Amino acid sequence: MAEFSLPQNSKVGTGTTHPAPGGAKRTKAFKVYRWNPDDGKNPVVDTYTIDLDKCGPMVLDALIKIKNETDTTLTFRRSCREGICGSCAMNIDGTNTLACLKAIDDVKGDVKIYPLPHMPVIKDLVPDLEHVYAQYRSIEPWLQAESAPPPDRERRQSVAERQKLDGMWECILCFCCTTSCPSYWWNGERYLGPAILLQAYRWLADSRDEKTGARLDALEDPFRLYRCHTIMNCTKTCPKGLNPAKAIGEIKQMMVARR
Ligand code: SF4
Ligand code: SF4
Ligand code: FES
Repeated sequence: MAEFSLPQNSKVGTGTTHPAPGGAKRTKAFKVYRWNPDDGKNPVVDTYTIDLDKCGPMVLDALIKIKNETDTTLTFRRSCREGICGSCAMNIDGTNTLACLKAIDDVKGDVKIYPLPHMPVIKDLVPDLEHVYAQYRSIEPWLQAESAPPPDRERRQSVAERQKLDGMWECILCFCCTTSCPSYWWNGERYLGPAILLQAYRWLADSRDEKTGARLDALEDPFRLYRCHTIMNCTKTCPKGLNPAKAIGEIKQMMVARR
């Protein structure tokens, strides 16, 4: 497992400045965190000034343009470009969000881009998600039932039962919430954090799942669940408009109800 550590931000130096191309009329500077594990140097912030008239509207468009045209070594994750895969999560203008959903015009002044905070960094804007995915595996995120399914059809839910999953199935596991949570920053080795707890509640709330008791037993722990102090950063930052803090509250209520 990757060592859990603060990002290598503490001694960030000033890196290379790439000026705007000649003739550009509408420009914007992007200040981007750079760290290469192979060169033995401290991280730096490079500045890339780009011509907005030759760039798409989103921060991810700018990063792709920089990588294609200015600096092929710039490293970041992306896939869908439409807020579905969760891979372009990063800290933009001081907030964790998805680069593909963040409009450049919404940022006043320079666009400052860092990796998701308080995660180990693999390179540049790419956080190491190994630990948080191990935490995801630990909640066994799949339907578990001991009773046999109906012989002639799938396990069914009523409309009301299905609606209980709204606000949870939409989670794209981007971890913007988890990496904005102060409790996770300091106790992330043992506290599951808002994204994983939202997923845990998704299975607790599923009328077809028959492992509710075992799932609650696994969460009944001073660290895994109860490090949430309802600070609400998670809900404020979720780029999909979800409410992980509410899901955590629902789990706590289930714990109380079964005592
Ligand atoms: S509400 Fe809980 S999970 Fe969300 S940011 Fe606060 S402490 Fe973290
Ligand atoms: S709850 Fe929101 S911020 Fe958290 S992982 Fe899911 S989509 Fe991302
Ligand atoms: S590239 Fe998929 S969410 Fe941004």
